[in-house]
Amino acid sequence: MYSKQEQAHFNDQTKSLLAQKDHIKVEQLNELRAALVYHEWRYYVLNQPLVADFEYDSLYKVLEKIEGDHPQLITPDSPTQRVSNDLTSDFNSVPHLVPMLSLGNSYNLQDLQDFDTQIKKLGMLGEGDDVAYSVEPKFDGGSVAAVFENDLLVRGATRGNGSEGEEITNNIRTISSIPLKAAFSKHNIHKVELRGEVLIQKENFKKINTQREEEGLAVFANPRNAATGGLRMKDPKEVTKRGLVAFIYQLGLAEDEKGEDQLKKFTSHAQGIELLGSLGFKVPTAESKLCKNIREVFEFCKYWEEKREDYEYEIDGMVVKVDSLALQEKCGYTSHHPRWAIAYKFKAKQATSTLLNVEYQVGKIGSITPVAKIEPVQLAGVTISSISLHNEEFIQSKDLRIGDRVLVERAGDVIPYIVKSLDDARTGSEEPIKFPTACPSCKTELIKAEGEAAWRCPNFSCKAQVLQRMIHHVSKDAMDIDGFGKSYVERFYQMEYLTSFADIYRLPYAAIARLEGFGEKSVKKLEAAIEKAKSNPIYRFLYGLSIHHLGKKVSKIIAENIEHVLDLQNWTLEDFTNLKDVGPVVSQNMIEFFAQPANIELLKEMESLGVNLKQTDADKPFEVAEDAPLSGKSILFTGSLQTMGRKEAQEKAKQAGARNVSAVSSKLDILVVGEKAGSKLKKAQALGTVKIYTEEEFNALFE
Ligand code: IVH
Repeated sequence: MYSKQEQAHFNDQTKSLLAQKDHIKVEQLNELRAALVYHEWRYYVLNQPLVADFEYDSLYKVLEKIEGDHPQLITPDSPTQRVSNDLTSDFNSVPHLVPMLSLGNSYNLQDLQDFDTQIKKLGMLGEGDDVAYSVEPKFDGGSVAAVFENDLLVRGATRGNGSEGEEITNNIRTISSIPLKAAFSKHNIHKVELRGEVLIQKENFKKINTQREEEGLAVFANPRNAATGGLRMKDPKEVTKRGLVAFIYQLGLAEDEKGEDQLKKFTSHAQGIELLGSLGFKVPTAESKLCKNIREVFEFCKYWEEKREDYEYEIDGMVVKVDSLALQEKCGYTSHHPRWAIAYKFKAKQATSTLLNVEYQVGKIGSITPVAKIEPVQLAGVTISSISLHNEEFIQSKDLRIGDRVLVERAGDVIPYIVKSLDDARTGSEEPIKFPTACPSCKTELIKAEGEAAWRCPNFSCKAQVLQRMIHHVSKDAMDIDGFGKSYVERFYQMEYLTSFADIYRLPYAAIARLEGFGEKSVKKLEAAIEKAKSNPIYRFLYGLSIHHLGKKVSKIIAENIEHVLDLQNWTLEDFTNLKDVGPVVSQNMIEFFAQPANIELLKEMESLGVNLKQTDADKPFEVAEDAPLSGKSILFTGSLQTMGRKEAQEKAKQAGARNVSAVSSKLDILVVGEKAGSKLKKAQALGTVKIYTEEEFNALFE
């Protein structure tokens, strides 16, 4: 949308606007608007913001102020005249039942006190009166609206431009913290629109990125991007894999059957949230507080600012809401935000440093990761000196150069991140970053596969890769050799005790016992752990080979289907792809691995050192006895079960020999009905061929 020149122009202009932000004049109104529109595009469309949130906010506030002073100058396309936008053409647009507004921002006690004063004015209260506020975290994810009608979840939508969003019902339905059915009708509510935020746990975010890095895919900059990206994926099955969670924090609309407003029957915000909690929604009860006055609000915000690191989700501030709904009504709304609520934004964990150098790390499948070495800086209590730059494209998109001053950020306790270089500080002596064309370790020319973000070293014997593969081989998920950590592998590798996988199983224990930091006892322990690992099931062994795209799951599937690892020498591409869940890419990689004589030699060498290559009981598929109670039957659970969860029930049925299916058809043998079973039960009854069990009857099969 913007040419390179235009972008350069807006970047310069933003700098000068920020520098003079307290003195911007009415004459600069258009310039200011154009710059804000440009940064919205960078943020929402490209997902590559160039300015920090607080910088954008400060310019936005200036615009609001000028427009407030000169309302006749407001144009319909001014950034203040709409709320931000995440619409694309991929999903259907749907209008929200009630517009989803934004929030005003505050950054300190003074801002909060100004807000409190304003509320008192709007509510016609005295200066000395206290207003009670409901204060809850400002979750940093993707906002959604969920509509329930007749107790059923009928629609889910993103926030979009505030008036309309994208219809993502199927994806919302995969989020387990949103019930598909909730008893609103018991409270005379027929139709309701709920607002909430969809998030990913920080821990889960790290796992997703590690896996993406392994697969050569671009990593997410932060949990928010991973969550909002997840919401807008085409395949709901893929959405499920992201492990999304939704906090509900607001009732947008509630009506009875005649369309009469039912929000009126609540007296406070907290009451509405409590109802939602009792109906099975995830609400921020434990995280929020009803504060007696604005002082208490400030204390609570400070308390959370400290605690934010340890909290399992990303939050970027607190939301302060007038608790009384009567007072909320008196306050009303602007076109942009409710006057009865404000966000208290935490200080961004940002600092500036100098980019000293870029080093290139080689991963276990040869992926090259550029790592920025920066002058050490303190960021939220941690000293940071290295930051991953992910891949070549990341460096290019930020136009980073050696010697640049850079803005560094840590969102939550997640990995630090380079936001941008500070072009203003450039002296002209900065050097462009030259991404290598050859492997930094073995000098082999790098390659890049279609659809992958990473350059890779294709040399399987590359020393740097061998080291990474050995670290992976002994790790918990692979051969799980207790006490054999990364630092041992590195040390033994440097001493040349370790040059290949085989060496792991013939370490010179006597010599190691004489090394500094080792003793008889610790070496004996290491030896015992290695000896034990020799008889591991072969799925661990296969996974430990670090074959590109061969994950834990496929390793297990393959292990189920072979008697000996070396059988794979004779497998064809079809033999692999015929297995369920084994794709053509990993199959081809397997074929290539087992076609290399050197690899076969290595496997044989390991076997001669006592490493098990034969299928063990732990590798075998789970077998069901012929007399198992549900052997060969297809089964489906419907309605809500009382004595166990749905997953648990399905697992129980599987263990008893049944196959779980997802729909009622003439092929279905058994339908187990829990409480409030609906159309599935009716359909099964109509078919007349399906055996219908209550939960009790199902459980009795196992007694
Ligand atoms: S209340 C009408 N509560 O912050 C009230 N919003 O800038 C408006 N957000 O996109 C929202 N946590 O998705 C509210 N506890 C919370 C929130 C919250 C996060 C998001 C919301 C919106 C943005 C407002």
